[in-house]
Parts: sequence; C-alpha cells; structure tokens
Amino acid sequence: MDKKALEAHWMPYTGNRQFKADPRIITSAQDVWYTDDRGRKILDGHSGLWTSGLGHGREEISVAVGQQIRELDFAPPFQFGHPKAFELANRVKELMPGDLDYVFFTNSGSESADTSLKMARAYWRLQGQPTKTRFIGRMKGYHGVNFGGISVGGIAANRKFFGQGIEADHLRHTMLPENQFSRGMPEQGAELADELNEMIALHDASTIAAVIVEPMAGSAGVIPPPVGYLQRLREICDANDILLIFDEVITGFGRCGALTGADEFGVVPDILNVAKQITNGAVPMGAVIAKASIYEMFMAHGGPDYALEFAHGYTYSAHPVACAAGLAALDILTREELPQRVAAEAPYFEALLHDSLADKPHVSDVRNYGFAGALTLASYPGEPLRRPFEVAMRMWEKGFLVRYGGDTIQLAPMFVMARDEMDSLIGALAQSLEELA
Ligand SMILES: Cc1ncc(COP(=O)(O)O)c(C=O)c1O
Repeated sequence: MDKKALEAHWMPYTGNRQFKADPRIITSAQDVWYTDDRGRKILDGHSGLWTSGLGHGREEISVAVGQQIRELDFAPPFQFGHPKAFELANRVKELMPGDLDYVFFTNSGSESADTSLKMARAYWRLQGQPTKTRFIGRMKGYHGVNFGGISVGGIAANRKFFGQGIEADHLRHTMLPENQFSRGMPEQGAELADELNEMIALHDASTIAAVIVEPMAGSAGVIPPPVGYLQRLREICDANDILLIFDEVITGFGRCGALTGADEFGVVPDILNVAKQITNGAVPMGAVIAKASIYEMFMAHGGPDYALEFAHGYTYSAHPVACAAGLAALDILTREELPQRVAAEAPYFEALLHDSLADKPHVSDVRNYGFAGALTLASYPGEPLRRPFEVAMRMWEKGFLVRYGGDTIQLAPMFVMARDEMDSLIGALAQSLEELA
C-alpha cells in the first residue's frame, strides 16, 4: 500500500509511527494462514487476537452471515426482538456451567466488563445494600479499555493517561518467582487469594460489590491460576456476600480445553463475561452471563412490567448478523469437539513450548495452559517493550504472526492447528530468539 494512504487511520494499540514506516498489511485469511499484501503466506500463531480458534474463513459462518444480512440486517434491540437473539442466548446458556442462565449481549470484551460491573452495583442496590459499590481487581488484570475495565484492570500503561476511574482496589498478581517455568497451573500461590480478606478488613464487605478476575490472565502474558487459588477466592466471596465475576473473554469457548475456564478450573462465578471466540472473531460480539438469582433480583424489583429493569444496553446488542455468526461458530465448536481437541493436544503444545524455548537467549519465564502460551523476555536496560517487539518483527519476516505485549511474546494456536504447524511456529520462534541473542 502507498504509505500516504496509511496516514488517516489512527490505529488502536499500535505504534503508529513504526507501523506506518514499516507496514504489516494482512489482505486475506484461510484456515491457519493469513496472506499479506506482498502475497506471502503467514502462519497465524495467535488465532487472530485470541478470537479465531476455529480457523479463518469458515464457510458456515460466512454463509450464515450472508443469509442473515439479506433477511434481517438490523432490528432495534430495545423494546423489540428477533429470533436469533433468543436462539443464541439459549445456546450460550446451554454451554455455561451452573446456573449461569441469563445472557446479556454486548459488542466487545470491554463492553462486557463495564456491563458486568454495572450489573453488580445495581444488583446490590436492589438488594437494599447500595453502599456496595467498590470493586476488587487484580494486578496485571486486563478487562478492556473502558473506564470500568481500566479501573479494575491492573496494567499501569492502560490506566495512567486517563485520570480518575471508578473505585477499585487490586489483589496481587500470581506470578511468583518460584513458579517460573511451571507447566500448566503453578503449585505455589493459592494463599495470595487470602489477600482478599485483608481488603475486606480494610474496606469492609459492606462497600465491596464484586471481585473481577480472568481465571487465566491472558493479555498480561498467560498467567494460569495457582492450584486452589480460584477456589479460595470463591470461598471468601461467598463468606462475605461479594459477587465473583470471571472475565472469560479469552478463556471462554475452548481456549483452556473446556468450554469455559470456570469448567476447566472447577469454580463457577456469579457473572461470566465472554467475547472474541463467541463468533470466531468474524463479527464483533460479547456477552455477560448472569446466574439466575441476579436476573431474578432485577425482575422482582422492576416496577410495572412495561418499565426497564436494567437501564443499560447497546444499539448493537444482539445484532442479527453477530447472532448468526455466533450460532454458526458455536455449532462448529461443539460439532467438531474442539475444546476436547485442545485438551487432548495441550500436552503436546506444552512440551514443545517448554522444551524448545526455555533455554533460549533472554527467556526468563515460559507459561502455558490449554492452547495459550507465553514467554517473558529479559529487558534491555530501561526498555522492557523492545525485545518482544524485535522478536515479533523477526517472526513476521519469517512468515509467522505472534503477539507481543509488555515484556512478553504470546502464542494462541488455533484449536484446529496440526502438530507440524505448531512445530514450525515454535521452531521459528526458537530460531528468532537465537538470531537476536
Ligand atoms: C480478559 C479480557 N477482557 C476484556 C478484553 C477486551 O476486549 P475488547 O478488546 O473486545 O474490548 C480482552 C481483550 O483482549 C480480554 O482479554
């Protein structure tokens, strides 16, 4: 592309100056491959952006989207409905654990985060406990970029420019030095959940609405929960009347080898947020799934039946085209038993990742769970972001897409990825690290 033509687009989460000087333009996608504007095949090592575990270009999704847009391109989601919104809500409900039965649609993970926080505050107000407004997040947590999400989030770079958010405190993250190079869930660190008791002692449970965590932190570089940690958080929330929200925007629908992180780690939250994989990334969509007692509380206090029970929603909530994509994507996910495939192949990915990369130059940690993996790279003095950037650029030149974020390189193989494709991805990463030593 002509470089002048790149100027107007202020790119999100991108070093615009570097990109526009050295663009990486993706023009098409099929299966595990992207094609760039130089006609090169690029192996997608990150499932798009944790979005596309089914592989790109799934015909069934394209057909469903095409049919839907011809049949019903838009219907107002406020005060009116369309069939696929209900169909998809029922499908999502079937796939959720426990009594997570009520599905509120959004358009992104960030909207899911802020929706869940508003839902939690409103719930306590309806309960007659309006002082329960504070949230507890976690260091290194990522819950998108809206004001609620950055307030409970724990990545400083996402917060520092934006001033006052909403009231939130943060648990310590679980990346203990003794857990470095753990395969899967680390053994140490369940006791870090007990910090929640200290926060309750400090703030009092009467001021805390909810705890929000990713069951496995993704964007900070794949931090699986220590054994027993999520169970402890659940117990403390229960003992103190605090809602537990799982942000499953990455872990929802297969990434950890089960339908949800909740299933995989054996802890059911009160509210569970999804996005990304719900449509395989083909159309923007997210959802917040609430347990029955939360929905019922809103209904019980709704006033006359024509009144709104929850004054919240988006013009594009449950967009017909997104619903069609979601139904098709979830059909494929379940029919092809892809969460099961991830569970079965995860040991191969784990062994490959650790055995090939742990001893490579500058690698200070390797972490993994399911089909998610990350390396932490030792920093150049004062420049923690530079080495991952250099590695990812080297990978791109070799024909591989990996994500770089903070001091990490992140990998998210597609649920359908074959072993030899994984071998070449990890092999190229090992080689890139050697070359840049
Ligand atoms: C756990 C989590 N929550 C929220 C988000 C934000 O999602 P979106 O970029 O769709 O707003 C992300 C995105 O990576 C995420 O990983």
